[in-house]
This record gives sequence, C-alpha cells and structure tokens, in this order.
Amino acid sequence: MLLKDFTTFKIGGPAKSFLRPADISRLRRVIKNSRERGEKVLVLGAGSNILADDRGVDAVVIKLDAKCFQGINNYGEIVEVGAGKPLSQLLAYCVQKGLSGAEFLAGIPGTVGGALAMNAGISLNKRKLAIGDLVERVLVLDYNNNLKVLERAKLKFGYRQSNLAKYVILGASFKLFPREPGFVKSKLSEYLSLRKAAQDWAWPNAGCVFKNPENDSAGRLIDSCGLKGRRIGGAQVSRKHANFILNVEHASSRDVLVLMREIKKTVKIKHKIILKTEIKIWK
Ligand code: EPU
Repeated sequence: MLLKDFTTFKIGGPAKSFLRPADISRLRRVIKNSRERGEKVLVLGAGSNILADDRGVDAVVIKLDAKCFQGINNYGEIVEVGAGKPLSQLLAYCVQKGLSGAEFLAGIPGTVGGALAMNAGISLNKRKLAIGDLVERVLVLDYNNNLKVLERAKLKFGYRQSNLAKYVILGASFKLFPREPGFVKSKLSEYLSLRKAAQDWAWPNAGCVFKNPENDSAGRLIDSCGLKGRRIGGAQVSRKHANFILNVEHASSRDVLVLMREIKKTVKIKHKIILKTEIKIWK
C-alpha cells in the first residue's frame, strides 16, 4: 500500500502500517496497540491536504472509510454525520433534505473529519466561511482512547485550525437551516463555479499550499513574484492559481518541498512576508 494512492497529490510512499478499521472497537484497539508500541498514529481523511514523503511515513495511518464511520441522519435542521463521510455526500444529503448553510463547502475534496480538524473553508470578498461555524458538537476519541462528546463551547476554531486536531474525530452534528432543495442546489452550483473558475484541478494537487496572510492572499503574493509556471522536477506552480502546486509529471515529495522553499524565499524577499504552510507534511 502506498500513500500516493490515497492522496490527491498522488505522492507518498508506504506508511508503517495502513489500517481501515471496520468499527469503533477495532479502531480503539488499533490506537491502543500503536500507542503501547510508541508508534505515531495519523488519521487520513480524503488525503487532500497532505504531502506524504515518498520514502515512507513513520506512522500508523488509519483511514475511517468503513460504513460505520460514514453514517448520516438528520433530526430537523440538525445533521449528524460520520467523520469518514466525504463532504460531497454531506452536501448531496443537504440538497435532498432541503438544508442550507453548508453550500460553501462545495468542491472541497475532503471528509467531514478532515475538514473539521483543519476548519476547512473559503475566503470570499474578505469574508471567511468555515465548517467550524456550523458545528454543534463533535464525537471524538480522547487521549485515553475514550469516547467523548465535545459541545460547541469546548470547541475552538481558527483560520485553518481547531482544537480537534489532537483527537480522533468520529463524527459531528451540524446546525443548518431549512430551505427549498432547489435553493440549496443552486447555491451549491454557484460556489462550485466560483471554485472551478479560480482553481486548478487539471493535475493532482493538495489545494492551497500556503495559508493566506492576514488581509492578503498567498496566491496573489506568489503570482506577483512571477512564479506561475515555475517548475522543479515534476512539481509546478499552477498558471491558473499561484497557491496551487501541481504534480505534472511524477513529482517527488522532495520536488514539492524544494519548490515550496523557493516560493517562501522569493515572497519573503519581495514582500517581507513569511508564508505559513497550510498543507500537512507527513514523513
Ligand atoms: N490571485 C491572484 N493570482 C493568483 C491567485 C489569486 O492574483 O494566482 C488573487 C485573486 O485574483 C483574488 C485573490 O488573489 O483577488 C484571492 O484569490 P481567490 O479568490 O482564489 O482566493 P484565495 O484567497 O487564494 C481562499 C482559500 C481557498 C478557498 C478560496 C475560495 C486559503 C489559503 N485559500 O483562496 O482554500 O478555496 O479562498 O474562495 O485560505 C485551501 O484551503 O486549500 C483552499 C484552496
């Protein structure tokens, strides 16, 4: 098993072990055993925000794609959904049930758990919309491997970060708003077209590589340095959106890292701004 087969970047070697537990008790056993052996545990969502080392990743990687982690139900405007559910399926459910509020997540190639851990979202006309704004409570496994419900008051969400990253997220409840399915569907299409117009999904990539600095856009800064199209090995800065690095020809993780270093250095020299990495680097 190679992580390249499970990441949108299509880069990554083997993990120490790669496990897809069928239910919560098996998941807890895997975590318990790994911790006893002193092994690091990483949870892989849709693999859309990860650069995995192609020499391998020194961790037990868990993927929660079994049916048990992908349930979805609603009680009026509250939607309960498993962490392994792809956002696209959550949104399809919202259309079907006539529930609005999550449409801005359209086109984000993530799972519910991954999106929560990094508080995935969008910046639109200086407004930031993120998944954390919709959450009522989250079901997790805590440090002691015990089930715990974290209520909204206990949750902290910031720009592309949350206090959930340290837990294993199992599922969450979101509070949405009843609207006509047609309304939800057309809002979804609007967000999807915005994303398609601005972003480059023609080649494997991991979305925006750097976080936006306060009141600016990393894409704009990189673009203004003339870096669009800059290529190292098989990794290239997108010509459409400069905060995207594309795997255009069997890029190695090193190609991407070298290109990232060059981008950071150039932006620092030209703009005196230090870009912070958004994607997670697994090694
Ligand atoms: N811009 C350029 N050149 C570029 C790219 C962008 O000049 O190469 C300019 C655009 O013209 C625009 C501004 O920069 O005026 C902002 O660009 P855009 O609307 O594409 O948004 P962004 O700030 O680059 C953010 C999120 C995206 C999210 C979009 C949706 C971050 C780092 N990025 O991008 O999230 O999809 O808003 O509105 O927060 C991600 O997190 O992986 C991601 C892709």
